[in-house]
Amino acid sequence: MTTYQALESVKTEDGNTLSVVEKNVDELPEGDLLIKVSYSSLNYKDAMSASGMPGVTRTYPHTPGIDAVGEIESSSDQNFKEGDKVIVTGYDLGMNTAGGFGQYIRVPAKWATPLPNGLSESESMSLGTAGLTAGLSVQALETYRDNKSFEGTKSIVTGATGGVGSIALMLLSKLNSEVTAVTGKKEQTDFLTGLGASEVILRNNLEEVAKKPIGKSIWDLGVDVVSGDMLTMLLTSLTPGGAVACSGLVGGPSFESSIFPFILRGNALLGIDSVEIPLEQKSQIWKRFSSDWKLDLVGLTKEVSLDGLDKEIQTILRGDQVGRIVINLI
Ligand SMILES: NC(=O)c1ccc[n+]([C@@H]2O[C@H](COP(=O)([O-])OP(=O)(O)OC[C@H]3O[C@@H](n4cnc5c(N)ncnc54)[C@H](OP(=O)(O)O)[C@@H]3O)[C@@H](O)[C@H]2O)c1
Repeated sequence: MTTYQALESVKTEDGNTLSVVEKNVDELPEGDLLIKVSYSSLNYKDAMSASGMPGVTRTYPHTPGIDAVGEIESSSDQNFKEGDKVIVTGYDLGMNTAGGFGQYIRVPAKWATPLPNGLSESESMSLGTAGLTAGLSVQALETYRDNKSFEGTKSIVTGATGGVGSIALMLLSKLNSEVTAVTGKKEQTDFLTGLGASEVILRNNLEEVAKKPIGKSIWDLGVDVVSGDMLTMLLTSLTPGGAVACSGLVGGPSFESSIFPFILRGNALLGIDSVEIPLEQKSQIWKRFSSDWKLDLVGLTKEVSLDGLDKEIQTILRGDQVGRIVINLI
């Protein structure tokens, strides 16, 4: 009988409690692939699941973790064999299926994509769902621009110190866009310029440049993870033909906009989903991160064990996250 360690969230009258417990592989759900997880990563959604916030996980006790990478220990699917290294992100992993905050997961083969050559297991989780979402956002902007180079463009990224924001910033800078980072953390200005930002604007100062209902044309491209007023302001400030890719809601689930950006400047709002999209689209982004989009993520990543995760979950829930948290399960 194989046992393993996992972080378990339990619902109590005073809110959810977290502890590292020993579990048995037999308790995992049915699935084609039993995977020994080497690394996982912490995303905002994991913190929501771990803390019992509504809309992510229905039943507890539960092991969160929407991301995992590891080695296949047994497979009933002809496309995978024992020893293959695979990445699993999204679908139901860590939502209502026991997730990557455990040393084993069992999942359908259609959720798993091979770890590409050129990307290590820990690098893939430095990226994780946050990186995948940043990549999908940049790809959506590329497609919208008919794959014209980003050279000479100006872009803006919100939630810039967080997971999606920091990777989007690095990627846009690598692709030669001049990036403005919007942050609530003045003390992280040097960190953001180190990632490639040409300019850092404090969240509260953005309204000085972005006037409602339509302001100066400044940015060609935007990546927004905040929604609310932040997205409203980004939309007022795009250049003609510019677009914003939006994926998150840390600033609230709704936003206001006049019609002006759309009918006076032909702007576009591109919605990004990293969870339920076809696996082939995810695989394509992982391959790009292993080749032409290769990023040096060392300065961005902090590695913790399962024991250190509770503290990081509280940090991300407070909006204090800087960079990425990778969980070492080896
Ligand atoms: N659509 C998808 O498939 C998808 C995938 C991944 C993530 N998401 C969503 O994207 C969002 C970001 O995820 P993440 O993993 O990057 O989270 P994260 O690491 O916690 O980063 C979020 C960042 O947003 C900023 N922020 C926090 N609270 C804020 C507030 N009240 N108002 C304005 N800014 C605030 C902070 O950066 P600064 O202090 O630098 O501003 C924070 O570091 C979440 O809503 C998440 O659910 C969606």
